[in-house]
Amino acid sequence: MRVATGAAPGKVILFGEHAVVYGRPAVAAALDHGLGAIAEHSERGPTLDIPAWGPKGLRLRLDGQEGLDAIGRALAAALDATEVGRPEVAVTIDGELPLGVGLGSSAAFAVSMLRALGEFRGAPFERDALLAAAGQVEEVFHGTPSGIDHTVIADGGCLRFQRDAEEPFRAVQVAVPVPLVVAWAPREGTTREVVAALRRRHDAMPELYDGLFDAMTMVTEAGVRALESGDLEALGRLFDLAHGYLNACGVSSLVNERMVTCARDNGALGAKLTGAGAGGAMVAIAPRAPARMVSALFAEGFQAFATTLSASET
Ligand code: MEV
Repeated sequence: MRVATGAAPGKVILFGEHAVVYGRPAVAAALDHGLGAIAEHSERGPTLDIPAWGPKGLRLRLDGQEGLDAIGRALAAALDATEVGRPEVAVTIDGELPLGVGLGSSAAFAVSMLRALGEFRGAPFERDALLAAAGQVEEVFHGTPSGIDHTVIADGGCLRFQRDAEEPFRAVQVAVPVPLVVAWAPREGTTREVVAALRRRHDAMPELYDGLFDAMTMVTEAGVRALESGDLEALGRLFDLAHGYLNACGVSSLVNERMVTCARDNGALGAKLTGAGAGGAMVAIAPRAPARMVSALFAEGFQAFATTLSASET
């Protein structure tokens, strides 16, 4: 029996979410929490099992293209991208990344599954083909993804991304390890909905929202400099600024504000929502007592973990 595996980390957007959809730069880093995929031969295939997602886990079998939900369409897109038709394959995905809170679960789902399917067909994906295929799977979930999620998840490390720039993806050289606390709560909407709602607000008053995106650009560029010089105090202040602008864009919610406030009350140098917002995830710079911050977030009913963004290898 053929068995193939693939893995992918989650991601955290440090600066520039939403503005990135409007051609502004953003910075994202791979997390050390991620997903793993197994693809194996099965007479019952194609099937997909994700035991950790949902109260009872998720299990589906593809009988055709009709009436599929997003996960089914994503599996179909991944099988199509492998260009081996519909192999009799069972895919299982497991890991420690929460679903749909802005930590890159859909892109990690796409990349880990494609890596496993590439191995399964006997021809692992080259980087560019993997990115193209992951982009197609991401479109199923997000409509018009900027590309930052699946690129940082496929490449790892820390990336500055700007869609129409001469060099869209540039590695950010992180000078010192960056201690982070990541927390999350259930989302109040999907990324697609939050992005679409901001698009409507933008289109009603483009000059005001473009002004916000320009200000976010200055924060993002200052964030790159703080990462590259290892200035954690500046990073914290810039997280606070970034969060304020995201709030002004209307993508924060009471839950995001509570997580950010809890982190700041418990020693964060700065904290911001990360990803699309409307609930979902928060990231804080936490050089002091991160375990205490995690406990405080749990005590308020959130999920959280402490992690470190590694310094870049020079
Ligand atoms: C979602 O993780 C990040 C957004 O900027 C959307 C995107 O970049 O496609 C909100």
